[in-house]
Amino acid sequence: MTKPAHRLSPVDADADADALRTLLRHQASTVVVVTAPGTPAVGFTATSFTSVSLAPPIISFCLNLGSSSWPAVSRSRYVGVHLLSRQQQELARTFATSGIDRFAAPTRWRLGPEGVPMLEDTLAWLLCRVIDRVTVGDHAIVLAEPEQLWHADVGSPLLYHRGRYANLADHVEPTARRVA
Ligand SMILES: Cc1cc2nc3c(=O)[nH]c(=O)nc-3n(C[C@H](O)[C@H](O)[C@H](O)COP(=O)(O)O)c2cc1C
Repeated sequence: MTKPAHRLSPVDADADADALRTLLRHQASTVVVVTAPGTPAVGFTATSFTSVSLAPPIISFCLNLGSSSWPAVSRSRYVGVHLLSRQQQELARTFATSGIDRFAAPTRWRLGPEGVPMLEDTLAWLLCRVIDRVTVGDHAIVLAEPEQLWHADVGSPLLYHRGRYANLADHVEPTARRVA
């Protein structure tokens, strides 16, 4: 027998948040690390990265207003967004751990344009100019325009699904093109 639908109502906001959180476990998401200038440097793991517009190019991510990264991101003119590869679970864990220096070794990074910390060896990265921040509930949607981007030609993304890091099961590395 099919189970009944959960009917959302403002009367029990906690139950609604739980129901939505449980449903979202079915969503498989790309794992990114967002970085921002600061002393010390700022960065956090996120699954809320998405493409908003292609012409002009605009991306977005959401950040919890209560997170330690928000004070810096609320002021940053530029941010870095790094798409992690399937081998970078530890990096994802590091940038989701509270109260540690996320940029200490073994994290490999360099200071990029506009003072944005850029992580080494990721699958792809974008250096973005922040164009707007929209507060929605307990998060801010940060909208940003990529000014530089780089991506690897091969490799597979790190995903998050059902509360765990995951990989594409059917991933096959493209073979190098043969030059006649
Ligand atoms: C897989 C994963 C995805 C996450 N996605 C987001 C996100 O999109 N937005 C966000 O604000 N925090 C996200 N977080 C939480 C942050 O990475 C970080 O743990 C949180 O900001 C707590 O950091 P703080 O204690 O320094 O404030 C995610 C965590 C994990 C493990």
